[in-house]
Amino acid sequence: MAVWKLHSSKKHRALGYYFSLVRRLINPKGPFKKLYYADLYCGDGKCTIAETKVSYLTPTIYSVLRHGGKEGFDVCCFLNDINPENIQKIKINTSEYSGFIEDYSSKDANDYYRDVLKKILSDQFSIIYLDPSNHKELKWDTIKGISEHNSKYNGNIRRPELIINFMVYSMLQTINASKACKSKEAEEKCLSSINESLGTNEWENRAKKYKEEGYVLYYELALLYTFIEQLKKIGYMVPTPIEITSTSKENRVYYLIWAVNEAGYSIVENNMIPSIMSLMEKAQKENKIEVKKIKARKQGNGDITKYFK
Ligand SMILES: C[S@@+](CC[C@H](N)C(=O)[O-])C[C@H]1O[C@@H](n2cnc3c(N)ncnc32)[C@H](O)[C@@H]1O
Repeated sequence: MAVWKLHSSKKHRALGYYFSLVRRLINPKGPFKKLYYADLYCGDGKCTIAETKVSYLTPTIYSVLRHGGKEGFDVCCFLNDINPENIQKIKINTSEYSGFIEDYSSKDANDYYRDVLKKILSDQFSIIYLDPSNHKELKWDTIKGISEHNSKYNGNIRRPELIINFMVYSMLQTINASKACKSKEAEEKCLSSINESLGTNEWENRAKKYKEEGYVLYYELALLYTFIEQLKKIGYMVPTPIEITSTSKENRVYYLIWAVNEAGYSIVENNMIPSIMSLMEKAQKENKIEVKKIKARKQGNGDITKYFK
């Protein structure tokens, strides 16, 4: 069972909310006959929070499967993780829903997506969740390849919708590491993983510009906006990203980014994103209290009121 830091529970809450909305579409009388869902970095399907020791099934997969099963709606899932042990475990964790799982696989997501696309009808609703632990694990060419699997639907272009864990923290670590490189060549090699994730090195000029304009977080903003611009160039609409911050320092660990089709954009941007943002604020407060409680318990202090001052 994977052990994650407390901020991961915010990601799961955000996604849980999103899938509660998706469930409304999973309805035999609704506009789609089938939902295709691919989680290309699925883990083992269970998560334990390191600080609280609370364990739960990850909501992304299960909310789709449970509801799909109940409504008699056709759900077609693909679960992939490069680690075969995770796939063995997720097979057990999802055994109740195996009828909805088209394929379990333990390949590199940057190859496996092609197998998935062959089985997804491009005019149907499909969601692909890209949740790596480090930016090096997800290449831009994969995202571009997915976007090209499209067709016309009601006059609009339909592409698989994406939920992307945009790993800004590991990119910033890479930039810091590159500063210690002894030669220009070594520095470029170090930064190449970021270029492979973004499909461009344009972020470097953007960062210089933001720095000149006085932005403090110029690298972070340059990476984020370059990525958003890249998604727009391949036809996606991009609602406001959701920041996932660490519990203690409140710095960004990653952004959750939805890349959607034109037809769903305004609902996502105007209804879903504001609701998820307030959910994130609530979750951050709750997590901070949880951390204080844990600290108080460790110190054997029965009266925890002083930790809330
Ligand atoms: C952040 S975890 C996934 C967590 C899970 N999606 C959740 O919501 O709880 C990232 C997973 O990606 C897997 N992984 C890393 N590199 C990969 C790759 N190139 N292709 C597929 N899976 C990969 C890791 O084994 C790990 O289980």
